[in-house]
This record gives sequence, structure tokens and C-alpha cells, in this order.
Amino acid sequence: MRRLAILVMGLICLVAFNSCGTTSVVPPVTRELAQKSATGPTRVDLATLREGRTVFVSRCIECHTLPAVSSHSAQEWPRLIDEMAGRANLKPAEREAVLAYILAVHAQ
Ligand code: HEC
Repeated sequence: MRRLAILVMGLICLVAFNSCGTTSVVPPVTRELAQKSATGPTRVDLATLREGRTVFVSRCIECHTLPAVSSHSAQEWPRLIDEMAGRANLKPAEREAVLAYILAVHAQ
């Protein structure tokens, strides 16, 4: 159990470290972010947040620069993602994961 915890922490550090360059625009999925989301009203797990971030940085830059999470309010994002999910051809699960990631970052 302890070993698993250390392994998970290590992985999270690695992910956080790798994304240093883009931290301001696309904050990494940290343990804190996941913990907040897991206990928050939306109840999102770490894997979903990671997927959401990955989809965000890889699929939302096909037509324009990556929009900053802070460029729109938490109320605006669901409608925007609905629109853009169609454009980016996201599967329903990907759409939900991106929105979950964006809202989790927003709530920080
Ligand atoms: C197929 C092209 C395409 C893809 C892929 C795409 N967008 Fe867009 N997006 C556009 C176009 C075109 C506009 C501007 C015109 C409009 O708003 O209808 C836009 C506008 C936006 C805006 C509002 C304007 C701004 O600068 O803030 C946001 C936010 C946005 N996109 C987010 C996303 C996100 C998040 C994704 C990934 C899920 C995404 N987009 C994927 C084409 C795309």
C-alpha cells in the first residue's frame, strides 16, 4: 500500500515536472487538483482529469492557439466545449473529460 502510494506520487511528480513549460496556460493535473475535484461537487477522478488535459492540449490547438482556461468563466465553458467538441470531433467521454479538467482548473 505504501509502495503504491510512493509510486503514484512519483508518477504525479513526473507528469507535473514534464509540463513545467506550459504550466501557466495548462496547469498540470496534480494530486491537489485531483483531490479537490474528487471531493468537490463534480467528483472527477485523477484519470479523467489527465485525459481531459491531454485531449485539451492535443485537440484544441488544431484550428487556433490553445485558449487559456481563465479566458472564459466557469459558466461559459460548458457551452463552448459543446460547440468545440463537435468541431474537434470529440467522443462523449473526451468531451466530458476536457470540461472536467477545465472546470477543475477554474475552481482552483
Ligand atoms: C475544427 C477547428 C476547431 C477545433 C478542433 C477547435 N476549435 Fe475552438 N474555435 C474554432 C473557431 C473557428 C473559433 C472561432 C469562431 C467561433 O467562435 O465560432 C473557435 C473559438 C473558440 C473559443 C472562443 C474564442 C476564444 O479565443 O476564446 C474557445 C474558447 C475555443 N474555440 C475552445 C476550443 C476548445 C476547448 C477546443 C477543443 C475541445 C477547440 N476550441 C477546438 C475552431 C476550432
